[in-house]
Amino acid sequence: MRFHVLTLFPEMVLQGLNTSILGRAQEKGLIGLHAVDIRDYTLDRHGKVDDYPYGGGAGMLIQAQPVYDAFQSVAAGRRLRTVYVTPQGKPFTQKMAEEFALEEELVLLCGHYEGIDERVLEEIVTDYVSIGDYVLTGGELPAMVMIDAISRLVPGVLNNETSAQTESFSNHLLEYPQYSRPVSWHGKEVPEILLSGDHRKISRWRLERSVERTAAVRPDLYAGYQARQEAILSLSRHKREHIHMMEMLARGRGELLYHKGGDVMLYDRRSGTCLITAETEQGGRSMIKMLADPSASDLKNLQWFVVCQEFLVLVLKEAFDLHTSYQCCQACYTRKEPLAVRHKDIRNLDESGKAFFLEHYPYGDESYFKDRMASGFLYGAYVEGKLTGFIGLHDDGSMGMLYVDEACRGRGIGSSLEAYLINRLRELDWTPYCHIFSDNRESRLLQEKLGLYLSKDTIWWLGREAGMESGLSLSRQT
Ligand code: ADE
Repeated sequence: MRFHVLTLFPEMVLQGLNTSILGRAQEKGLIGLHAVDIRDYTLDRHGKVDDYPYGGGAGMLIQAQPVYDAFQSVAAGRRLRTVYVTPQGKPFTQKMAEEFALEEELVLLCGHYEGIDERVLEEIVTDYVSIGDYVLTGGELPAMVMIDAISRLVPGVLNNETSAQTESFSNHLLEYPQYSRPVSWHGKEVPEILLSGDHRKISRWRLERSVERTAAVRPDLYAGYQARQEAILSLSRHKREHIHMMEMLARGRGELLYHKGGDVMLYDRRSGTCLITAETEQGGRSMIKMLADPSASDLKNLQWFVVCQEFLVLVLKEAFDLHTSYQCCQACYTRKEPLAVRHKDIRNLDESGKAFFLEHYPYGDESYFKDRMASGFLYGAYVEGKLTGFIGLHDDGSMGMLYVDEACRGRGIGSSLEAYLINRLRELDWTPYCHIFSDNRESRLLQEKLGLYLSKDTIWWLGREAGMESGLSLSRQT
């Protein structure tokens, strides 16, 4: 991802972001930072970029021309997502950071003095964003705050993407307390449960502490958390049919767009997936009407629908141009005990496994491989040091991509791979689940053998974009 910062103080931005995690991300080429000095574009002989405001008033304004020319030095006529950081903007949130992280290029415009001539803002700005209800001397610090928050969501910037996924705000809760060595300090002991090695109990304890803290200091966030918990409860009446929606909420992914009785609609910004279940056709129709409304522009990147009832397929087809459709059943692992992993050499897949992955997983392209590798949930099985199979977690949170080399089939490697992934997910206190094409008998048998429960009812994956047949669409297969 590439950031272009239009500023009067380029060195402040470049120096402020060239150390630590963001410095390394730049060295690795994961993010690019380009600062454009607005002053370089003034036509004034003395380098002046500001002037008095018409109508009087205190202070000076940055003039339209140098800002416009600085912008065009980057955009060259292209329509780029351009954020003006200003106290007059919408409050910056984690959700916004997630949305901006989907852009390939982002322009940030920093103001100074009393602001910038309105006419150039009208021509180039797509988003007005404030980092809080206070006024700073300029836009550089807010731009740096935004770049930091967005960059850490770019795959690979944090070593382990799960740390981004399980941190504050991603699940509407504040972070739980953390402890490091020594066990005893100033007479205070580390809570015993954290020393127990029982990952599931630790996850539960952490969740409880997060909930407590959030309720105490952020009632607004807590209300959102409660709404999600209520939706999970309604969905749990048909758990196997709704496991994908319940897990998305429980893992702190996806926004709850609508919930009333048995009608629930979620949107997962990262994978561009909208998940819907409806009790009645009328309920389904009114939810889909909300989606089709052009003012629902908040749903950028919407590419997929996953629906639980066939009547929703028909209603969606009336509202959207749909190009891809898959019918699947769901399987989930709800048992407490970890599974035995017979095959011993299973580890995270790295760059060295890319060619093998792309050769044997025809539906995922290179960027999907990188994205999934960065998620920390893409595993390979090795026989005598040679990669022979893999499995991973799709970007929507379901397990899939299972492949084992033909020469090595029949040795339980596929079962081991899936058992391994299930155990990892259970450690996070997640319920592992997958989607199986309805006609994939082999996969159904494997799920049953491993002790997963199959849903009786079908779900439908519907692709919105044209040309999805060759892209990520088919990568949903188990
Ligand atoms: N410029 C000055 N103060 C600001 C703020 N709070 N947010 C964004 N930009 C600003």
